[in-house]
Amino acid sequence: MSIADIRKDYQRHALTEADVADDPIVQFTTWFDEAVSAQVVEPNAMCLATATPDAYPSARIVLLKGVDQRGFVFYTDYRSRKGTELADNPCASLCFFWAELERQVRINGAVQRVSRTESDEYFQSRPLPSRVGAWTSSQSSVLPSREVLEAQLAANAERFGDGPVPLPDHWGGYRVVPEEIEFWQGRPSRLHDRIQFRKESGRWVKRRLSP
Ligand SMILES: Cc1cc2nc3c(=O)[nH]c(=O)nc-3n(C[C@H](O)[C@H](O)[C@H](O)COP(=O)(O)O)c2cc1C
Repeated sequence: MSIADIRKDYQRHALTEADVADDPIVQFTTWFDEAVSAQVVEPNAMCLATATPDAYPSARIVLLKGVDQRGFVFYTDYRSRKGTELADNPCASLCFFWAELERQVRINGAVQRVSRTESDEYFQSRPLPSRVGAWTSSQSSVLPSREVLEAQLAANAERFGDGPVPLPDHWGGYRVVPEEIEFWQGRPSRLHDRIQFRKESGRWVKRRLSP
């Protein structure tokens, strides 16, 4: 079968204006819980797109680690490519695809670092090897070989032993503060449902977009 022949007709659900909560964070939480119940693989995996100040984009998957009225939180190495791009251009897009439910959620907004207290609380909840790993990897920098990384890991494992492992200065969370959130439900014949929220004068405004 050629790639061009791969297609799927979406039949499972519909999305009406009345189905969607007036608060998009409430709606996101409902859909997220449904993705968990449907046993979607890694339901908190999301594509994060950033861009340089002159608009050259890059995208990668990261894990959502918290959501509330303030926004969507993920954790990473502040020295990474995404970290550098966010320092110079603090806005981002997030995109979830929950194939089993034929759903997509898109989020755009400004990005800010979470507090050191919040980052530390999450960092200390991670398994020991992940905490040691954060000291070992300088994310997105060029490595001469795998062996160099493993030698750094062995040195850090010896340095920290069974812990404690402090939060590295270069590691922590970002919060995407949403300005737009779109809920997309696949429908037959490519006539999908799209309900978009936009923040206007501090209030969420809901509207339907053409598929
Ligand atoms: C399922 C999955 C989850 C991931 N979660 C994270 C994450 O939470 N934080 C992170 O920094 N990288 C995560 N990564 C790795 C990133 O996709 C990426 O390789 C890394 O962050 C470096 O990106 P950058 O060079 O654009 O900064 C994940 C990758 C996958 C496939």
